[in-house]
Amino acid sequence: MNQSSSHLSSMAILISGRGSNMSVLADRITSGDLPGSISFVGADREKAAGLEAARIRGLATQVFPYDELGRERAENQLIQALLESGSTWIVLAGFMKILSARFVAEFGGRIVNIHPSLLPAFPGVDAIGQALKYGVKITGVTVHLVDRKVDHGPILAQRAVPVPDGTDRESLEKSIHAAEHDLYWRTLKDLFEGRYVEHGRRRQLHEQAPRPYLGLE
Ligand code: GRF
Repeated sequence: MNQSSSHLSSMAILISGRGSNMSVLADRITSGDLPGSISFVGADREKAAGLEAARIRGLATQVFPYDELGRERAENQLIQALLESGSTWIVLAGFMKILSARFVAEFGGRIVNIHPSLLPAFPGVDAIGQALKYGVKITGVTVHLVDRKVDHGPILAQRAVPVPDGTDRESLEKSIHAAEHDLYWRTLKDLFEGRYVEHGRRRQLHEQAPRPYLGLE
């Protein structure tokens, strides 16, 4: 990897929970499937189980204690860590805190999120529970850029997940996570390789990178 490609796809991953998506991304980098590097794994609380998964993988971790410090001070620490680490991408993987308008203005276009529904259906918390309760036959997963509104930014990729009759929460969670674990790294790869082109709200995927390819060969 040359210097510029490693810089271009250096990502900070933010988590709040078990970090299974973070672990898959880290493992896909290790296997060479996803170009780039992880600058650090950040969490809003020390108890996030994914921090241990990150440490086991030899990744730098950092806690920004939102509940103790309040959002503004914790976010200031996060911004400082992002600037100091030179992270180009901010990858949300189950991060449960809402980023401020100021944060989004500073890093806009470089923040990516994964949400466990086919947006704009079921935004917000417990999207899987919302989908089950509603009785949909198909739900899914969305990877999108983050803007000022929650679960609202331009969509990069979606994948449908069927909800057969009799599906319980546990089995739907399993299917959703399996879809997430495959879709997130593939979408980030396309994004890092510059394959997405902006057409208004639509992000169009090009087979060939429209600008010079700066990732790994
Ligand atoms: C995922 O379902 C993701 O879509 C949502 O939070 C969950 C995080 O799961 N934003 P994990 O911590 O990656 O296992």
